Amino acid sequence: MRIPIIAGNWKMNLGRVDEALAFVRSIRHRLNEIEGVERVLCPPFTVLAAVADILRPTHIGLGAQTMHWDDRGAYTGEVSPAMLAGLCQYVILGHSERRTGRVAFPDHAAQVSVENDTAVNRKVHAALAHDLIPIICVGENLAQNEAGQTHEFVGGQVRAALEGLTAKQVERCVIAYEPLWAIGTGKAATPADANRIIGLTIRGAIAEVFGEATAAAVRVQYGGSVNLENIAAFMSMPEVDGALVGGASLKPDFVELVRQAALARCWSKRT
Ligand code: PGA
Repeated sequence: MRIPIIAGNWKMNLGRVDEALAFVRSIRHRLNEIEGVERVLCPPFTVLAAVADILRPTHIGLGAQTMHWDDRGAYTGEVSPAMLAGLCQYVILGHSERRTGRVAFPDHAAQVSVENDTAVNRKVHAALAHDLIPIICVGENLAQNEAGQTHEFVGGQVRAALEGLTAKQVERCVIAYEPLWAIGTGKAATPADANRIIGLTIRGAIAEVFGEATAAAVRVQYGGSVNLENIAAFMSMPEVDGALVGGASLKPDFVELVRQAALARCWSKRT
């Protein structure tokens, strides 16, 4: 059985120790009490250690937002899997803001890829080697969506990210389906579309290479404008195993969002 996972991707927000700790202190007890879903916070590097300290007595997971694949080296500004191991349990890899270069060149997104398929694949291998669970982001842009290329493009991203892994390793990965046009726009995919792409395209691509049993074991989240109003609808979809939440993870309401997710999943299993 796949345990749903809701992860909050803080991006470049709440990165001062005082503000991060104040926020986590305000939600951690209530967040910790929610059963039936894994909950994970992914703050900026600057506060990972401080947040790790106050999450230690809880069951709330901690993740980084990216990492390099090498353990050490002349990579100014980068953070390695060896540095993260022991500090957190998860790492987001291949987020579209990094794949498209938006993090480096906001005005020229898509011109310079900071994280391409090859880099993502190396990072996935490195994360698993260090016992970190990768949350691998995939998703098509608006033009690809409108041209009917979603299946081919997203399937290709999944195959590339998982290349060279064993089926057992694949089962430990989390995949986040995040259509680029839905991220930060307030315009989420429909739950039915997310369900179809996760089932047919993402599990389909995994099944082709690693077999049906592996495809059925991997957890696949939806991400892109998930909020308190739409989380229940996504969670009631059988292929959707949780959400990667950006903007809505920065507010105390995030606890309520996770509670709704747990409730919705619980009800949809009974009916
Ligand atoms: P959003 O971001 O929830 O603010 O749309 C999601 C993400 O980028 O992971």
